[in-house]
Amino acid sequence: MAAGEGKRMKSDIPKVLHRVAGKPMLEYMLEAFRQLEVKKTIVIVGHKAQKVKEAFKGERIKALRQPKLLGSGDALRLTRSVLANFRGDVLVVYGDTPLVSYESLKNLIQSHRATQAACTILTAVTKNPTGFGRIVRGEDNRIATIVEEQEADTYEKAIGEINVGAYCFKAKELFLSLKEIKPDNIKKEYYLTDTIKVLSKKRAKIESVYARDEEEALGVNSRYALSQAGAIINKRNIEKLSSGEVTVVDPATTYLYADLEVGRDTIIYPHTVIEGKVKIGRGCRIGPFAHIRSGTILQDNVHIGNFVEVVRSKVGSGSKIKHHSYIGDTIVGKDVNIGAGTITANYDGKNKNTTFIDEGVFIGVGTILIAPVKIGKRAATGAGSVVIKNRNVPAGATVAGIPAKILKKKRKKR
Ligand code: UD1
Ligand code: CA
Repeated sequence: MAAGEGKRMKSDIPKVLHRVAGKPMLEYMLEAFRQLEVKKTIVIVGHKAQKVKEAFKGERIKALRQPKLLGSGDALRLTRSVLANFRGDVLVVYGDTPLVSYESLKNLIQSHRATQAACTILTAVTKNPTGFGRIVRGEDNRIATIVEEQEADTYEKAIGEINVGAYCFKAKELFLSLKEIKPDNIKKEYYLTDTIKVLSKKRAKIESVYARDEEEALGVNSRYALSQAGAIINKRNIEKLSSGEVTVVDPATTYLYADLEVGRDTIIYPHTVIEGKVKIGRGCRIGPFAHIRSGTILQDNVHIGNFVEVVRSKVGSGSKIKHHSYIGDTIVGKDVNIGAGTITANYDGKNKNTTFIDEGVFIGVGTILIAPVKIGKRAATGAGSVVIKNRNVPAGATVAGIPAKILKKKRKKR
């Protein structure tokens, strides 16, 4: 469900497209659905529908447009057009709960199937339930209804069990109950959560499972919640690495906003940001103050030092880029030393061009490499050289100057 405007975000960007730890919020639930291998994914769009649809274009996902934002119940009702004859289970999630985990959803589905309930709800118990729908249970401890914050009385407000915002319904019961909900609340909206009251009155079986972790419930309704969600995802990524074979020296200043693979005994030093899809080998040293961006592969024993940015590049094993450099769209061979302040000029204003630096090369301090350009095996550049595009440096040669010219055809073995 991704039709809402997200008024509380105070933004021109649709809420579900705001980025959490580097990815549009919506992407988290889509990823979970892919992993769950659901038969069909439907996304309800509405506010800035076209923009939201772009977030999953090219995928086998059905977008349905909610003409008027009359509430989550109204949004869900639209799926009838696709699911009218469907007799299986419908998993319903919101686009603004990026922390709901695959494990919790899997558990929700499994439990739903095991109990044959009409609806199973993902819940959590929290000390601070403000803003969430409260799970109201009857004397038999069965779920009787979900009361939204606005409609909750003092007693209901004190309930600590909340609606995380993920449900598994039997299709038939879902659509029957959606027919009966009314916008008789303060917001005058059709609440999806009112289906629970309808089902419980009919004595249909309603079950619940707890989310694996209470923090999964965080719904991103504000900018503050957006940053909280990012911090939690970062914490999860750091925990995953450092409970394995990688040292993260200072979790408080490390930002892992990435689909990240890191090898044994690599150390990530403070103030490092790693984003996007990145692969790092064994025994590497990253940071402090390094920025590793998407499309980067670092092989084993690579050192990336302070104020170095690497993007869409591959760095061969044993190579070092230790101070103040920008390396973009570059293939670096093994055992290369890149001097302080080296810059690859990869962008000519129109295209991003590639730089090749072959194995054993020595790039002098403050070299500018204007791409496309190739530096041959074991070649060297002098301090402050500017290597002009397409003026490839032959293997073993030493170049220097602006523009860089060959000083020596064969460099001494070092
Ligand atoms: C909702 C739940 C609440 C739960 C909380 C968990 C309802 C009525 N309440 O409240 O019980 O504790 O989530 O985070 O569902 N949407 C549409 N079309 C609409 C309205 C909303 O598609 O007309 C979508 C929004 O894009 C959003 C989701 O439904 O992804 C939830 O809407 P939102 O207004 O954020 O509901 P909450 O107040 O957070
Ligand atoms: Ca919400």
